[in-house]
Amino acid sequence: MSVLYESLTKIKDTKNIGKNNTFVFESFFDSYTKYESLFETVNKYPDISNSTSTNNGVQWNFQNNEDKKLALDIKNFIKKKLNYDVDISQRETWAIIYQPGGWQALHYHSVPNERISVVLNFSKKTSTSHSDGALYGIVEKEKGIELFISDYYPGKITIMDGGILHGSYPTMSERKIIVLDFLIDKIS
Ligand SMILES: [Fe+2]
Repeated sequence: MSVLYESLTKIKDTKNIGKNNTFVFESFFDSYTKYESLFETVNKYPDISNSTSTNNGVQWNFQNNEDKKLALDIKNFIKKKLNYDVDISQRETWAIIYQPGGWQALHYHSVPNERISVVLNFSKKTSTSHSDGALYGIVEKEKGIELFISDYYPGKITIMDGGILHGSYPTMSERKIIVLDFLIDKIS
């Protein structure tokens, strides 16, 4: 059992740990309000949704370090949460604004243990449907697979191994998220 695995099993909000030590956990990132202004860059950069898994929404990359403070904040949050020595470096950050009916096709960001992918949610749900706009993913277990569904609310953060297959169910109302990918440099 690796140090990563042992450490993750101690986090009470860890959703799932699968083969190759892939993991998913959910938490609340209360500083999210400081970063709501990042969505003001919506018209500054090209909408790249057509070349991604995003449907019925706009997606753009931050290209001028607008995300730097947030990335550092999240990096420290992850290190504190995981409570083990992990060196990660920011790789890329993008924003998505889903329109009602917007959804994300199943995809992954990297091979297992190469990246940590973070989804930070800024919007409030307008329905009581469990799957409305929810992030879902598939964790490979020794014997088969398990599905996780991650409900959303402002400040909700989902942190997962970049190798986890995931997507989002259609949202019933506008939903804003920021996604941050970090490279795992070293785990000790
Ligand atoms: Fe993703």
